[in-house]
Amino acid sequence: MSKPPAASLANMDVEQFELWKNMLEQRTGMALTEARKPYLELCIAQRLKALSLEQYMDYYHYLVSGNLAEKAMEWSVLVDRLTVQETSFFRHPSSFELVNRELEAFYRANSKGYWNAWSVGCSTGEEPYSIAMLAHQVAQRYGREKQFGVMGTDISLFTIAAAREGKYRVTRLNNVSPEHQAQFFNKLSDGQLQVNEALRERVCFARLNVLELKKTPINNMNLIYCQNMLIYFRRWRRHEIVRRLSERLAVGGVLVLGLGELTEWRLPGLKRIEMADTLAFRRVAENN
Ligand SMILES: C[S@@+](CC[C@H](N)C(=O)[O-])C[C@H]1O[C@@H](n2cnc3c(N)ncnc32)[C@H](O)[C@@H]1O
Repeated sequence: MSKPPAASLANMDVEQFELWKNMLEQRTGMALTEARKPYLELCIAQRLKALSLEQYMDYYHYLVSGNLAEKAMEWSVLVDRLTVQETSFFRHPSSFELVNRELEAFYRANSKGYWNAWSVGCSTGEEPYSIAMLAHQVAQRYGREKQFGVMGTDISLFTIAAAREGKYRVTRLNNVSPEHQAQFFNKLSDGQLQVNEALRERVCFARLNVLELKKTPINNMNLIYCQNMLIYFRRWRRHEIVRRLSERLAVGGVLVLGLGELTEWRLPGLKRIEMADTLAFRRVAENN
């Protein structure tokens, strides 16, 4: 039987909190605030119990010692618990309106070629599937419903696994129109709705830490959609990530961020798109 966590667990001291904070920020970018300390303590207490360890630092040493690859699964469990994964279909309507306009412009201007999109920090898949529904709808009008692809990436293995399945409770689909529900979802025997095969085959998912963008062979994107993830990062890190993401855009491609997630920011080759209630940039020139 696993041992209960030790009584002294209730108090993670300041130095210990600093250690955890630093490790988490270094590995995920997430800047943990003091307000999240009780939550961190709770998550670690649960993992201590599961692993029959006793103290916060036992778990810390367990995670940082030995072969990093060996500890990857346990690290994934912790990251999964600590990251905020809240999401929904068509979460920010104005941004999706912008995506719709971009799609129209793309298929109108290009008689051939694929439209490629990337949802960064895609959580359980609602965001990339929303983009895919719009892409399908527009591409179909041009008789090209197979000429687009959407990729969703996230640091959490567990959200990626759920995204691949594409199964949602009915209440999760409140923002999905009845027409889209009928066209893109199948009802399962347990009452859940699953994204149908035709749409799922246009969407792929991969685990990716945005801090490791340097080694990521993703390029030539028509759309990079990154919302509600950068808010957990420090300003300098947001700038760094956005710079790297913008390098992955095709000329003419668009980067859509969450409102207020980036302030006073300019980058040569990128031009702000003036559309109310959105924060988006277009690549107007080749990368240097
Ligand atoms: C609040 S959710 C946002 C989901 C979706 N983009 C939306 O706006 O609805 C933030 C997501 O970012 C992911 N995330 C956090 N840190 C990350 C990192 N370093 N690399 C990739 N994804 C990360 C989390 O796992 C989580 O699924």
